[in-house]
Amino acid sequence: MFRDRDIISIRDFTRDELTKIFNEAYEMEKNLDKRLDILRDKVLALLFFEPSTRTMFSFQTAMYRLGGETLIFSDVGKSSMAKGETLGDTIRIIDGYSDCIVIRHWMEGTAKYAADIAESPVINAGDGTREHPTQTMIDLYTIWRVKGDVDNLNIGLLGDLKYGRAVTSLIYGLMKFDVNKLYLISPKELRIRDEVRDSLNKAGLEYIETDDIKGVLNKLDVLYVTRIQKERFPDPTEYERVRGSYQVDKSLLEYAREGLIILHPLPRVDEISYDVDETRHAYYFKQARYGVPVRMALLKLVMVG
Ligand code: CP
Repeated sequence: MFRDRDIISIRDFTRDELTKIFNEAYEMEKNLDKRLDILRDKVLALLFFEPSTRTMFSFQTAMYRLGGETLIFSDVGKSSMAKGETLGDTIRIIDGYSDCIVIRHWMEGTAKYAADIAESPVINAGDGTREHPTQTMIDLYTIWRVKGDVDNLNIGLLGDLKYGRAVTSLIYGLMKFDVNKLYLISPKELRIRDEVRDSLNKAGLEYIETDDIKGVLNKLDVLYVTRIQKERFPDPTEYERVRGSYQVDKSLLEYAREGLIILHPLPRVDEISYDVDETRHAYYFKQARYGVPVRMALLKLVMVG
C-alpha cells in the first residue's frame, strides 16, 4: 500500500490510508526521545530548491530518529547545477546515492518530474503553488489528535487561498472526510482557484466564500491561517493591494468558540499577532512539532512498509 510509493499529491490518498498514517504517527510520538533502527542503513536525500525550516529539518530529524542518514542539497550554487548540470541528471545521480528523495521546488510539477526519473520513491515537499501533501498530513493529524476526529467540524481557512500550496493541499485532504462546513475566508483577489472550486463542487463538500472573518469566527471549530505568499505573485502591484488585509489578534478571539483551535503551516509574517500565542486557541507550534512523528510514520511506510 505504501512501500516504494511516490508521495506527490494528497489527492492520491484514501481516508483509510491517511488514518493509517495517523495511527503510525501516534505510535511514533512515543519514541521521540530515542533513536530507533527501523531505517538503519537507509539514506534520505533532501533536495530543497526553495527555503525551508520546518519541512527540511523535521524530515532530517525524523530520519535520524528512525536510525537512518540524510544527504542535504539546499544550495544550487554549491552543486554541479552551477556548472550547467540539468535537474534531470541531478535527480538521476542523487537517486543512485539514496533510498528515498524529498524534493521542494518553485516550479509546479517538479516532484512528479523527479518521480518519473527516479527509481527510489519521491516525496513532494512543495511544488510551486500546487501542493504540499506532507504538510496536509500534519495538519489533518493535528486536528485528529486535538479534536479526536476530522469529521463533523466547521473549518475556516483564512488567507491566501489562491497561491498557498499548503492550504490548497489541505482543501483536497479535507474532501476525504465528512467535514460539516468549510469557510473559505480571503480577500476576493485571493480566493481559491477555479480547479479547486470545481473539485469542491464535485466532492459535494458544503462551503462558503467570504472576506468577513469576524462574521464567521463564532461558527468555527478550527481556523487555519495562512501567510500571503508574496513570492508567488506574478505582479507586485497585486501583492501591494492585499498586503496586511487580514490579521488574527487577541481582541478578535472574543468572538471565538471556547474550543476553537488556530493552526498555521508557518512561517507567519503578520497574519497572527504575537498576543495570540499565549491564548488557549494557539496550536500552530504544536502542529509544527507533529511534523516529526508524521514524517517518521511516512518514511517508515514508504521505505519499509
Ligand atoms: N510549513 C512549511 O512548509 O514550512 P517551511 O517552509 O519552513 O518548510
